[in-house]
Amino acid sequence: MCGIVGYVGPRPAAELLITGLRRLEYRGYDSAGIATLDDDCTLHRHRTVGEVDNLARTVAVGGAPGSTGIAHTRWATHGIPSDHNAHPHASSAGDVIVVQNGIVENYRELRAELQAFLDAENRSWQSDTDTEVIPELISRQLAAGRSFEDSLAYAVGRLRGANAIAAFHRRDPDRIYAARKGSAGGIVVGYGEGEMFIASDLPALLPHTTSVHHLEDGDIAAIDRDGVSVRRSGEPAFKPTPREVDLDPIAIARGPYRHFMLKEIHEQPRALSDTIRGRARLNPPNALPSDLNLSDATLREIERVLVIGMGTSLHAAMIGRWWIEQIAGIPADFDNASEFRFRAPLLGPSTLVVAVTQSGETIDTLGAMNHVRDRWGAPQVVITNVDGSEATRQADASIVMRCGPEVGVASTKTFVGSLAALYLLACRIGRAQGRLSQDDLTVHLEQLLTAPSLLERGVQRAERCSEIAQLFGSASNFLVLGRGIEYPLAMEAALKCKEISYVHAEGYAAGEMKHGPIALLDHQFPVIALAPRGPLFDKMTSAIQQVSARRAPVIAIGDEGDDELAELVDHFIGVPPAPPLLTPFSLTPVVQLLAYHIALARGLDIDQPRNLAKTVTVE
Ligand code: F6R
Repeated sequence: MCGIVGYVGPRPAAELLITGLRRLEYRGYDSAGIATLDDDCTLHRHRTVGEVDNLARTVAVGGAPGSTGIAHTRWATHGIPSDHNAHPHASSAGDVIVVQNGIVENYRELRAELQAFLDAENRSWQSDTDTEVIPELISRQLAAGRSFEDSLAYAVGRLRGANAIAAFHRRDPDRIYAARKGSAGGIVVGYGEGEMFIASDLPALLPHTTSVHHLEDGDIAAIDRDGVSVRRSGEPAFKPTPREVDLDPIAIARGPYRHFMLKEIHEQPRALSDTIRGRARLNPPNALPSDLNLSDATLREIERVLVIGMGTSLHAAMIGRWWIEQIAGIPADFDNASEFRFRAPLLGPSTLVVAVTQSGETIDTLGAMNHVRDRWGAPQVVITNVDGSEATRQADASIVMRCGPEVGVASTKTFVGSLAALYLLACRIGRAQGRLSQDDLTVHLEQLLTAPSLLERGVQRAERCSEIAQLFGSASNFLVLGRGIEYPLAMEAALKCKEISYVHAEGYAAGEMKHGPIALLDHQFPVIALAPRGPLFDKMTSAIQQVSARRAPVIAIGDEGDDELAELVDHFIGVPPAPPLLTPFSLTPVVQLLAYHIALARGLDIDQPRNLAKTVTVE
């Protein structure tokens, strides 16, 4: 979702800012903009719809001199994607320049309040955005004689909703400012030699520095080329101590792959091995031995587990529910975080809440976690790919996957990372509760250790997926059917098709199909059936026969060598046979590759699908 970068130092800012924006492109955006201030305090502002390349071309023509500036990629929330709605926004007096990530929930109220000033000065709003109230609020305070920092703090105090902001004062070419309120994706300050950077995410900083400081909720920061000074809720200003991060910029290069998504699908076996390394021990059997900061005594008291998440993470949560019931042997449920946070379910301190969020910044998941803490005080574990993310700060304990940076907007390797963490957690809870014997734990862990090779073999089915995609690339609809542990995967397959192929796809529990969706089926409506051999195989084949009887083409994904199934369907993709609890690992790469190749056949922009954002920091 929206990306922010800022620079103050001796070098020309524009090129650095545009390069920074490019490194945030993976977050998803629809327009981009930049504002620089030169030594004479002349403002240079450019904003364009579409790709950062468009902005770069406009800057090359129009020029953006100056060594201080801020820039932004916008993901529209209020007002269509257009040049005039793109950030940076300026106050009506032109003295304050702002970029923002988040939503000003009370912007109508603030606009109405500020309207009287604009009317008196015969000025008008320049955009349809909620953002524009922010420079206006700051500007009014400056006019009343307050400092920029005080004015920014005042403005932030007036905003409702989560927001990250960067700003500068038109008459001060030596300083930029940043503020963070709530969890709107955050702001990281990067320390260079005689120069400073800000960004909403690390990839924009890493070519320049690995020495960083994350702003916290409520922080107001003033940044000049020598450092940063932070004010936090009434305390005196302080200079934070930067910490070193060890993200490797090489790891976020695309290498020989045509798209990041393809690269990340291929990285899954390694991402899974890295995530379980040292956490699935056999002699003696032990799951998550050292890095789950919850004692066995706490885990023993748990009577129920609730797993929450959004999108792909919700599908992982659904599979996690299955494992917790089957492996740990205690009641478990899942919920969509955006719905859960506004319900009044009956939890209590004996419910363990597990939040799944690869980014650790999804606002609905964070909102649900807040809801849990404020209302029930239930213990919380977060499963995330980003150590130090907001979710890790809120949770009692974290399981950090080790998938490496995921650049493709559609989650792939972090899905399997989440699954691995959930599986291990189920084992750990089962053991702590005394419901899982040492021998059964050994079997579960041994099976998990085979998962990387299941993924590896699944990834090798790319060519077959491509053949199928050639046949069905122009279909307008897909139904994806699964049962049991494969049902959430059917939903994940459908989500991937929607996200990157822009094709309508529904994931359904196969048993539910005849209760309505079957009415849609005809010879132009392909059905993907997830049908590995397992306890519900016969029921899946009954559903397949019902589909075939309506002449809908069936693409079955089943066990390699399952000739009986292959004969029953129109098209067959074989995956390595897996133990019943491990089929999510054998099937995942194939459903991802199918969606990928359908998108490729349709000639779409796979790594930056329209309207989507990698980190969803607005509600
Ligand atoms: C799908 C996808 C999204 C995310 C969802 C939650 O490919 O990426 O559906 O899964 O936005 O994001 P996190 O896991 O960061 O909370």
